[in-house]
Amino acid sequence: MRIRLEAIVLAESSLYIDWNNSFEVLDKAYAANLFVLIIGPKGTGKTTLVRQFAAKRGINLESINFSLRTRESHLVGAKTLENGAIGFEQGILVKSMKEGNMLYLDEINSAEADVLLRLDEALDDRRQLVLKESSGELINAAKGWFVVATINPLSHVGTKELPPQLLSRFPIRLRLDYPPEEIEFQIVKQYSSGSHEKDIMQGIKLANILRQAAAVEELYYSPSLRETIAFAKILDSGMKTRQAAEVVFANVYLQWGNVEFQKVNDIITSMFGS
Ligand SMILES: Nc1ncnc2c1ncn2[C@@H]1O[C@H](COP(=O)(O)OP(=O)(O)O)[C@@H](O)[C@H]1O
Ligand SMILES: [Mg+2]
Repeated sequence: MRIRLEAIVLAESSLYIDWNNSFEVLDKAYAANLFVLIIGPKGTGKTTLVRQFAAKRGINLESINFSLRTRESHLVGAKTLENGAIGFEQGILVKSMKEGNMLYLDEINSAEADVLLRLDEALDDRRQLVLKESSGELINAAKGWFVVATINPLSHVGTKELPPQLLSRFPIRLRLDYPPEEIEFQIVKQYSSGSHEKDIMQGIKLANILRQAAAVEELYYSPSLRETIAFAKILDSGMKTRQAAEVVFANVYLQWGNVEFQKVNDIITSMFGS
């Protein structure tokens, strides 16, 4: 039998630029066996950072993205019934504890209170969980178990405040914000051909104007790095700059009506012409 060695294709997410030394914080937290909370708006590279950290350190990563529909059973597991026999299918919390993997809890502040309560049990200093779902079995976290959670700032729709008790389970808090313009430019260039430099820089400037307006609640929406990356990519595909700015940055504001849209469209006209 011929064994085929397949090249490991690095996904886009492997291009993380560590512009504010987040890696080092994760490294030290991991060494000290302290759990980490990453706070920052959407699209600032939180998930990318965590994936890259796990990949570089060779740690197995289990991830869950929280929403209102996340149930305890997703985390802990659930009873199964197969051919008359009752079994237990473990959830990712239990799996990561047993195997001593890294557990990534994404957007933890979108979860319901009962789900958070269960997490809290596992995350306290004993790092134990009683499985009432599986006749009271006691799970002890294996050595190396590492938990990183993210939250979006409270202005985001559907997010809730994390209870202080749960916050205290993550004593290392990492802040990820929008990068400075030159850094964002470097990041964006990684995902595109790198031509259209002047236009890309203008797009990043525009994004920052909109972010600042959103921060003081003059606009409803704050564009992320996903948008500036998309702007560069659509320019690569041959779209004209003005139209690219419209479809990537302006049209989304129509969701809040024409007045909101017009504010942004005027800025675009002043920067890119009409
Ligand atoms: N520092 C960075 N280096 C490389 N890519 C980045 C960086 N920050 C953001 N990105 C890119 O921006 C996009 C959004 O990042 P993501 O990790 O999904 O953000 P979040 O999890 O904070 O919503 C992705 O395409 C990501 O690869
Ligand atoms: Mg994410």
